[in-house]
Amino acid sequence: MCGIVGYVGAKNKAIDTVLEGLETLEYRGYDSAGIAYIEKDTISVHKAIGRVQALHDDLGPNVSKNTISIGHTRWATHGSPTVYNAHPHTNQDGSIAVVHNGIIENYEELRDFLKKKGYNFVSETDSEVIPHLLDYHLRKTRSFRVAFLQTLKALSGTFGLVVMTTHEPDVLFAARLGSPLVLGITNTNAIIFASDPAALIAHTKKVVFLNDYEYVIAKQDGTYALHDFMKDTKVVRDPEILAYDAEEAQLGDFAHFMLKEIYEVPQTIRSATLGRIKAEEGIVKLGGLEAVSEQLNYIDRIVIVACGTSYYAGLVGEYLIEEIAGIPVEVQYASEFKYRDEPFSRSTALLAISQSGETADTIAALKKVEDFGVLRLGIVNAVGSTIARMTDAGVYCHAGPERAVASTKAFVAQVTVLAQMALYLSKGNSPLYKPLLKELDALPQKAEQLLKLDATIQKMAKKYAHYNDFLFIGRKYDFPSALEGALKLKEISYIHAEGFAAGEMKHGPLAMIEPAFPTFAIAPNGSLLPKTVSNIEEIRARKGKVVAIGTQGNTQLKRLVDDVLYMPDTLEQTTPILSAIILQLFAYYVALERGHNVDRPRNLAKSVTVE
Ligand code: F6R
Repeated sequence: MCGIVGYVGAKNKAIDTVLEGLETLEYRGYDSAGIAYIEKDTISVHKAIGRVQALHDDLGPNVSKNTISIGHTRWATHGSPTVYNAHPHTNQDGSIAVVHNGIIENYEELRDFLKKKGYNFVSETDSEVIPHLLDYHLRKTRSFRVAFLQTLKALSGTFGLVVMTTHEPDVLFAARLGSPLVLGITNTNAIIFASDPAALIAHTKKVVFLNDYEYVIAKQDGTYALHDFMKDTKVVRDPEILAYDAEEAQLGDFAHFMLKEIYEVPQTIRSATLGRIKAEEGIVKLGGLEAVSEQLNYIDRIVIVACGTSYYAGLVGEYLIEEIAGIPVEVQYASEFKYRDEPFSRSTALLAISQSGETADTIAALKKVEDFGVLRLGIVNAVGSTIARMTDAGVYCHAGPERAVASTKAFVAQVTVLAQMALYLSKGNSPLYKPLLKELDALPQKAEQLLKLDATIQKMAKKYAHYNDFLFIGRKYDFPSALEGALKLKEISYIHAEGFAAGEMKHGPLAMIEPAFPTFAIAPNGSLLPKTVSNIEEIRARKGKVVAIGTQGNTQLKRLVDDVLYMPDTLEQTTPILSAIILQLFAYYVALERGHNVDRPRNLAKSVTVE
């Protein structure tokens, strides 16, 4: 989604820092970018469609001596990606510039009001009301700070915003309501604002995450004041140190972040289990749940809320928690959950799963139950993110930053955490307790082994890249994998792909099968393999091509299907962790073969911070 960066500091590094930050945010997906800075008491604005590099080119080499600047990468919501619609937006005399993430829901009403007062609008965006409203209140109150406060109170919807003005040329004004914003303090006493810590980590790890209804006034001398704009009170909160390694966010020798992140899967499994399981001693310890362990004894139902890939990880979690811990689980799309009127008792826990921890729908789902008195849990990758902070307890994925839009290692980490959560909740009362613990311990090595299939998968992807439709099937634990495999393929290769429970084939999908509609069957050894084999036979009988994932040593599949990829033997409960590597590599190479931008697929953004 959109990205924000702002800089104020004594060192003349404003523009460079903002441009660098915007480049770091490119991975989140955007269609236009813009920057503003103050020079000789005037605000200069540069905007460009497409890459941040175009801004660099537009600015030229001679503008690096500024102390204050704001920048934005935009992912169009209101109005198409044009220069006019790109941020920063300004008031009419150009004395106020604003970058905004989120959606101003009452923008039409505000725009009508401002138009009647003589304000002219140049963009189709909701955001443009903000500089005009600031101007309107400034003219009435003569104080920019008061105008800022009044403007914040007049906006409904969501915002993370940073404002710069020639009326106070050494100050940045920033605020948050429902859209993430973090402030970083550098060791040269500069203040950097960003919508994602990735944009400031190269300069500092000392940060303050803004909460909803908070605003900040940050000055060039490195001082800042945090306030609550509803209560109009000062907020005191010490900075925290980000546990985030800037190196992790670099591409290194890999061609794309997606490939790099798939190759990080073995390490991801290690990090997600580190200090949590002791296979030999039969111990699972989830420190993040300790504080609520007593409450967990009374939980008789868990509702998982998530979106996209995290939702599919949730589906694997449903099978795991039900089978191992014996607690009924229901998985819901967060976007549906928030509008559904369902009975919700206090013995139900809500578990939000999110890589970014900033997904608007998942946040809204958590907010919905705020007053229900229910336990809110999280499985989150981004440390310090909104979801991590608004849940009562949770478990971090520790997958490290994901830069490719398509989620890969985070899915694996989510499933690994869900498996440990199932074991933890079972209190050892499951015949699967020890075998699963042991298998989790063995998985990183098996994942390493699987990565050796890279060249084979690439060859196979070449063979199948020209098809326009693809079906993915699997049963039990492999059913969510089929859904995730289809999502991965469609989001980066733009091929029409559908995931189905293999048992559903005869109830409709089989009608689509013909030679030009291949199927990817996830068919590892396990109790349901004979059933999946029957489904494969039905597809072959209709002349459908089949690629299968089977377990090493299986000789039956080879005779039956067009191509097989073998994975190491594992429990059916952990199959989704290993098959994910194959499905992700397959999608990656198909997309590459079709010439797409693998890390930044069209129309998508890394973190969906608006509804
Ligand atoms: C797909 C993908 C998305 C996200 C979804 C939720 O590869 O990444 O489907 O899983 O947008 O995002 P998070 O997990 O950040 O809440």
